[in-house]
Amino acid sequence: MAIEKHKTVVLYPSLGVGHLNPMVELAKVFLSRGVAVIIAVVDSPDAMARLATTNPDITFRHLPVPLTGRDQQYSHPIMRTIDVLRAASPALRGFLRGQVPAVDALVVDMFCTDALDVAAELGVPAYFFFTSALADLAVMLHLPYNFPAASLKDVPEAVLRFPGVPPIRAMDMATTVQDRESDIARARLRQCARMPEARGFLVNTFDWLEARALKALRCGLCTPGRPTPPVYCIGPLVLPGNTDGSGERHACLEWLDTQPSRSVVFLSFGSMGIFSEAQLREIASGLENSGHMFLWVVRNPPEHQSKSIEPDMEALLPEGFLERTRERGYVMKNWAPQMEVLQHDAVGAFVTHCGWNSALEGIVSGVLMICWPLYSEQRMNKVHMVEEMKVGVVMEGYEEELVKAEELEAKVRLVMESEEGNKLRERLVVAKEMAVDALKEGGGSSDVAFDQFLRGL
Ligand code: UDX
Repeated sequence: MAIEKHKTVVLYPSLGVGHLNPMVELAKVFLSRGVAVIIAVVDSPDAMARLATTNPDITFRHLPVPLTGRDQQYSHPIMRTIDVLRAASPALRGFLRGQVPAVDALVVDMFCTDALDVAAELGVPAYFFFTSALADLAVMLHLPYNFPAASLKDVPEAVLRFPGVPPIRAMDMATTVQDRESDIARARLRQCARMPEARGFLVNTFDWLEARALKALRCGLCTPGRPTPPVYCIGPLVLPGNTDGSGERHACLEWLDTQPSRSVVFLSFGSMGIFSEAQLREIASGLENSGHMFLWVVRNPPEHQSKSIEPDMEALLPEGFLERTRERGYVMKNWAPQMEVLQHDAVGAFVTHCGWNSALEGIVSGVLMICWPLYSEQRMNKVHMVEEMKVGVVMEGYEEELVKAEELEAKVRLVMESEEGNKLRERLVVAKEMAVDALKEGGGSSDVAFDQFLRGL
């Protein structure tokens, strides 16, 4: 739907590429409907510059944040995010005030609750763009009504129930809310309690994938006694293929070209996933013993980071591993062109940390996942992906200090060789088709939802 009056929206992402990238994809949807977009970026100047080069139609503005006094140690990385975003409020206010004519809406990330005050002050309608699963939104909205008296970390096996989602063990709740007395848990609860102040929620998902959570939200079960703002499932919005702007095809893709269809296991752990040396060795042994092809993104363990961010593969991995697996393994340093890899016909399974962007990328590529959650809300995503969406199997060892080589080997064999793996793969074929359907112009559920949202703007 092209809209009649020319409108402008400002998108306000949180820090980090996992939040910035989906905002850029959202900006493209606005542009395709004739709505002008400005992305106001607080941090990540390098990522912003790269994205501005590859997306010349989108206007980016950098909002300066006073850095004085912000060199403190934070008790949790998200405390820094919240602090920096709060400090950016005056710059956001000044920027919005300077827009003539006034912008029609401010669309903010889930961590940007302070921006609600700026929007209210200026009379700009504010919406959230939720870059994680709709099921997580259902949980987070309900959390202020349903927060256990004990700290979750003290009752890890306690089962928590939220409308529209499978039961979740306390240990699988977001890391930010594990310790109810911590600054971060208090800050997140305050943010969650404020979320219904928004005019609505745009969510990077699609109706079919999260029907139960959507129903619970629409029936008002997640915010009892208070209206739930409208929810618009407008995804899946995922990165296009090549995003580095070079136009060159990565060597790992050339390697994938030489492998049989669906033969390769891809291991990649988001923007920040990092393992100890001991864990890397277990992964290497598990991959070697599985006998399957693999493409593995390796980062330097925390204990070596002070020396270099470049991992020294020969020193880190078991002796002779690289030589022995030369014919069937491709080990990469730090970063892979993930979306292009997932879309390659040679990839048959994806070992993922369950960041929501990665989960969606796996789904739209029709690739079965082995869910190995690491940080943030990824354990909750694992629950939804395994128990509700049925797009992956769980790597149980994530609860322990180390995932053992034997488990990795067994899970790789399960997804690549077993009848159960084949059955799950059929589900992925359907999920991929449903993702395509959702985005179809003129009738797909996400296309319709975006039109509805625009009509209310
Ligand atoms: C966190 C949260 O867990 C996620 O749910 C949230 O909404 C964003 O922040 P993050 O670690 O950023 O997750 O992971 P993910 O959401 O999966 O995003 C990572 C992005 O980086 C993906 O788009 C992925 O394709 C890309 N990536 C990652 C690469 O392109 N190459 C890599 O090697 C690793």
